[in-house]
This record gives sequence, structure tokens and C-alpha cells, in this order.
Amino acid sequence: MKTYTSSLSLLFVMALLSACRPDSKTSAFQNPTNSNPNMDVHSFARPDEAVIRHLDLDLTVDFDSKSISGTAAYQIGVQPGATQIILDTRDLDIQQVEVDGSEVEFELGPSKPFMGQPLRIPVSETAKQLTIHYATQPTAEALQWLEPSQTAGKNHPYLFTQGQAILTRTWIPIQDSPGIRLTYSAKVKVPSELMAVMSAENPQQRNPTGEYTYQMEQPIPAYLIVLAVGDFEFRSLGPRTGAYTEAVMMDRVASEFSDLEQMVTAAENLYGPYLWDRYDVIVLPPSFPFGGMENPRITFATPTIIAGDKSLIALIAHELAHSWSGNLVTNATWNDFWLNEGFTVYFEWRIMEALYGESYANMLISLGHQGLSNAVEELNERDTHLFLDLKGRNPDDGMTEIAYEKGAHFLKMLELKVGRENFDAFLKKYFADHQFQSMSTEKFISYLNENLIQKHNLDVNINEWIYGPGLPENCPVITAERFEIVDQNYAVFIHGQPASKLKTDEWSTMEWIHFLRALPDTLSDQQMDDLDQTFSFTNSTNSEIQAAWYELAIKQGYGQKIMPSIRAFLIEVGRRKFLTPLYKALIAKGQTDAAREIFEAAKPNYHSISSNSIQQLLENAG
Ligand code: BES
Ligand code: ZN
Repeated sequence: MKTYTSSLSLLFVMALLSACRPDSKTSAFQNPTNSNPNMDVHSFARPDEAVIRHLDLDLTVDFDSKSISGTAAYQIGVQPGATQIILDTRDLDIQQVEVDGSEVEFELGPSKPFMGQPLRIPVSETAKQLTIHYATQPTAEALQWLEPSQTAGKNHPYLFTQGQAILTRTWIPIQDSPGIRLTYSAKVKVPSELMAVMSAENPQQRNPTGEYTYQMEQPIPAYLIVLAVGDFEFRSLGPRTGAYTEAVMMDRVASEFSDLEQMVTAAENLYGPYLWDRYDVIVLPPSFPFGGMENPRITFATPTIIAGDKSLIALIAHELAHSWSGNLVTNATWNDFWLNEGFTVYFEWRIMEALYGESYANMLISLGHQGLSNAVEELNERDTHLFLDLKGRNPDDGMTEIAYEKGAHFLKMLELKVGRENFDAFLKKYFADHQFQSMSTEKFISYLNENLIQKHNLDVNINEWIYGPGLPENCPVITAERFEIVDQNYAVFIHGQPASKLKTDEWSTMEWIHFLRALPDTLSDQQMDDLDQTFSFTNSTNSEIQAAWYELAIKQGYGQKIMPSIRAFLIEVGRRKFLTPLYKALIAKGQTDAAREIFEAAKPNYHSISSNSIQQLLENAG
């Protein structure tokens, strides 16, 4: 009784405090959703009735029929009074369902775009175990089946899956909501000449039978369950770090990642122990649609970051950082995506600063701010809020610079306001207090108010940042000293000096990107020729430089001249971040037919995530 009264009076005091909270001057900005902001509009599951807690997979991967088949067995928890459990499925062939060993009649509801179909299974309150016999279809969007020609080694097929945001339901019937966590184990049979890894404790050696077993003992959301199958091998890089990739790639990958162990240590020194045992990276074939994906224990990465000089390694710092922000403390719904990505970008900056110094990190931040300003200009106002309302939309629509860079700049603003030491203590405690839990925007705001704002008596426009549009006035602008030198050289070139006069010896990839992005689209062909002859951009082996140069070239009308290289890049690489701006630039230049022709040739090499995006662009182009 006593605790009850005291917590009531505490609530009362808190209500008083929050009524006169500093942000009240911007109280115009509030959570705009009418529905329960904690409900996941991208899942059919009703976890308050019945949830999955543990999954045992027993699967066979068949490259001939492009299908994964077998069973998914769940341990479930059913609330008193509940009569059903609902799972998410999409394009799955559900063959049979058993509850505690007895076959039951299940029901597949109507199919909704990108959501799929609810799988309703009758259960009693005492039900413990659910077994589903199923197979995937060749069109399953999570899966990309590659021909041998699409791999580095060219001799064996390859398969990888991508779960985020809501694709896991296309290869496993599951409660596919980031607010629901489960542990899993798996038995997977693959062709005996291939190896297979999952987001779990992984093999380091081939098993000649092609049978592998996995355990993931930490509870994770469904979007982090993944599988990759191919002719790859493992190499240790440190006591708890290593790389998987095809043999012909291994030496390059190992030398690019030689700082991996140090990165894990730097991250731990910032925000607490790494709680996933090993940290490995698998470098996939170039059709992987993202730069990286933070699958627990094993980041999936594009080969386009293997530049030969470690210059694109911030991406690995980013995926590693997700081991805290995202995988340990997970956005409750996709509307809260900024809690995953904004924190991760901020954390990435901090890891890179720890390893390579402040002037390096400041370039990352500055490039991020540039991208953010452009995004704010281009996006619909409602899509510039940190907290989004993605009801009825594909959650991928939330994957913009807003979640990433506005989110990270919000945290940077707080850091500058409260001082680094206080801010780091806050973040460290935040991760420790919520490990293996999900986090909603509302819950974060009250934790922030309690543990940072009130504690240090701050006056901050939190609601404006989170529920308001665009960039608040107090958005920090970090200047990068090393870019000032680039800007001087840029001015020299723009004022008519030849490219050979520029002092670029010390430039890293980031300086080049800054330079290329600054160039106006009114250069003459001679100036473009001069740049290319002096710096060999067209034949660069650095994917970021290639992408920035090709985009500039298309906008300049110089694209025709180097079209074979642009075309080859668009066919070889399936990373959406590179594809979208290039196709957009072609369309904007009236070269939609050329874009279509390239897309037709490239499509077999794109993951559905990338081909859907480009298809959309081309359809909108008319
Ligand atoms: N988790 C994301 C990738 C993602 C987001 C996949 C949403 C599907 C839906 C990953 O951590 C990421 O952000 N990757 C970036 C790299 C990063 C350095 C910004 C990428 O792939 O470009
Ligand atoms: Zn990320």
C-alpha cells in the first residue's frame, strides 16, 4: 500500500514537472497519430493475445526449385481468454499446422499489398507448441537466388536473405514485428559443396554433408533472422572477429577489415559491453541491395566497400553500432525507425572519431548534414518528422536521411548542450536499462526527460525535433577543417585553373565526395575531360567516387561519353543507394529510354528491394 501511495504521489509530481517542462513553449509539436502509437501497423500479430517466444527451424535449401522448405516449430505463450494466435505470412505455401502435436485447421486471411496475409491458428489457453510445415515460393521477396555468374567465384550458386523491414514473413511464417522478440535455433541442409551462415552462432568450417546447425540465444526481432548460402569461407581477424567471403575475395576483405577488433573495443569503451559474443562480417556478391545490414553476430555487407584503402569502413562501424542501437534496444515499430538509425549514425561518428580522430569524424558529420539539408528540401513535410506515421505505407518509405541524419543531429545537439561526459553516461545507461527490449518514441522521450533533461535542468525543444517538420533552428552545423582545404581548391578550379593545379595528394574518399558534390552542373565538356584525365574518375575502383562522378556526369550531359562505364556499374552493382540517384538523373535528363534499357539488362542482378524501387521510378517517369 505504501509503495502504491508513494508512486502515485511521484506520478503527481512528475505530471507537475512535465506541465512546466521547458519544451512547453513548443507544445505545438505533439504526437500526431490518433491510433495507439505503440501498435505496429505493419504486422497482423496480436501479441497481447498470443506470442511466439522461441523458434526451431528445420529447413532444406533447394537451388533447383528456388525454394526453402521444412518446418518452423514455435514455443508460444497464450493469454487467458485468447483463442487464436496470428502470424504474418506473405507468398508462403502453408501445408500443415499442428498445435501441441495435433493437426488443426488454419485460416489464411486476405492478402494486403506488402503486408501479406494473416495466418490464424486456433489455440487453447494452455497451448505450448506450434508446428508449421511450409515452403517458400521462388518470388519470395526476402530471398535473392544468384546464378554462379553473379558471384565472384563464378562456379556455384548463392542465396542470401534480407529481413528488414517486413520481409522475413516471405520466408518464415512469423510474428514479424520489431516489438516482438524470440530466440531461435535452426537446422539447415544445403548442397554439400556450399556453406551457410545465419544471424546466430555460426560454423567456421565446411561440413561435407551440407548440414549446419545454429543457435541464437539472445532474443531478437524477426527482421534480424537471416541466412546466406554460398561457396564462401571463414578467416579469423581477431579474438572475436572474423570475415566470411568467397575465396577470391578473402585477401582483400581481410586487409580492408584489419581494424575490426579495434572497432568492437572502441564501441564497448563508449557504450558498454558487446553482448553478442562474436562479431563477424560476410561480404556478399555485389547485388546485395544495401551497403550493410546489421544482422546480429554477422553483419551482411556489400563488396562495394572494399576500396583497398579502408576508406569506406565507416559503414562497418555503423553496422557494428547497431549491436547496441537497434539490436539490443530495438525500435518498437517502423514509425520509431529513427531510434534505430539516428542513434546508430551518431554512434558510428563516435567510433570513427575514436579510431581515426576528430577531423575524420567531422567530415562524416558534415557530409551527413549536406545530405540532410537536401532531403529536407525534397521530401514532403510530413516525412521530415523524426516520428513517422507510416500507416498504410511501405515501412521502407521511412528509410530517408531524416531517420538517419536528423536523428543523429538531434543527439549531437543534446551532446553539445549537456557536454560529452554527461551525454555518454546517459547513453550508456540507456542501453543497459533497456537491453533486449523494444523502445517507442514516447517511452524514449520520457526516459530522456527523466534522465537527462530534468537531471541537468536543460531547456530543449525536444517535441519540435521529434514531432515537428524540417530542421529546428538549433540544429548543429559541424564544420570539417579538411573540407575547407577542398573548398579552396574547388574555387581555384571553378575560376578556370586546370585540374592539375589542385593539391589533392592528401585527400581521402570523403574529400573527393565533398569536391564532386560541390561541382555545379554547368561545367564545360573540356572541364569534365580535364577532371577525368587528371583524376581517372570514370575508371575509379572506389564505388562512392564512381557513383558521385557518374551522377555528376549525367547531370552535366557528359553521361553519353562515359555511358559504357555507367551502364556497366548499374548492371554489376545492386546497391539501391547508388542506383536510385543515377536512374533519377537519367530520367531527369530525358534519357528515360536509356534508363529502361539498362534496367532491363540489369534487373536479373537486382534484389527485389532494388528492382521494386527502380521499377517505381521508371513507372512514375511515364
Ligand atoms: N539497417 C540498415 C539497412 C536497412 C534499413 C534495411 C531499412 C532495410 C530497411 C543499415 O544499417 C543501413 O543503414 N545501411 C546503410 C549504411 C549506413 C552507413 C548508412 C546502407 O546500406 O547504405
Ligand atoms: Zn543502419
